[in-house]
Amino acid sequence: MEFKEVIGKRRSIRYYLPDKPVEMEKIQIMLEASRLAPCASNLNVLRAVVVERDNAPKRLIDSIAEFNSTHILQAPVLICWYVDMQAWKDRAERMKELIDIGALEPTHGWSHEYIDNVYMKTRRKDPEIINYIEGGMGIAFGMLAAVDQGLGTCLNTCESEEARKALGLPETATVLWIMSVGYYAEPPETERQRPRRPFEELFSLISYGTPFKRDERVVEELRKAKMIQL
Ligand SMILES: Cc1cc2nc3c(=O)[nH]c(=O)nc-3n(C[C@H](O)[C@H](O)[C@H](O)COP(=O)(O)O)c2cc1C
Repeated sequence: MEFKEVIGKRRSIRYYLPDKPVEMEKIQIMLEASRLAPCASNLNVLRAVVVERDNAPKRLIDSIAEFNSTHILQAPVLICWYVDMQAWKDRAERMKELIDIGALEPTHGWSHEYIDNVYMKTRRKDPEIINYIEGGMGIAFGMLAAVDQGLGTCLNTCESEEARKALGLPETATVLWIMSVGYYAEPPETERQRPRRPFEELFSLISYGTPFKRDERVVEELRKAKMIQL
């Protein structure tokens, strides 16, 4: 499927074919996509436990918010996305590896010594924020890979600490969201693309309060490419 159409076709799916199993190859492709998403310091803090609904521990199902229970039980697979702070201990080594493969160049000032003496001593934003941003990116990559393969997904709020315990994850782990995955009961196009706030309300050009003006020709192009279906 064309990239723009993948974006346009994605919906949060809440009706699945409960008895149509999802091939593990397709789940693997989702995970492969997620692994290739950008990650701060190349740390790969985002991880996942894939659980088949029929073998899911009751404690895990109970950790998912009540308002999700109907569609959760229809989806044959749950991907439990989490971040693990343990990954941070390898920060210097992961950065040095980027230098060794030429992604960070000496011409730009990068060296192993620079990592130890400058990079590692630079005050960073709260690691939790970085983890959440990275988590969101990886989850999005996996989600788009699902759409590309004809699968539907939805993110589901859970009680994070309960889900962590149900999955037997270490205390350094934080469960972000639980994704239901399955074949949709009806093609996503039968449901309208969900409404969004107006473009100009969301995006500014140069300064806050000056809307980034939408070019209608671009909108028309994106409609033809099936990205905008509103
Ligand atoms: C961080 C996050 C959490 C969400 N949690 C839930 C949830 O618990 N249950 C649910 O049905 N949808 C959930 N959603 C899906 C949103 O409701 C959905 O993305 C939004 O309504 C727009 O619809 P669309 O995804 O079909 O474009 C979540 C989405 C995000 C990004």
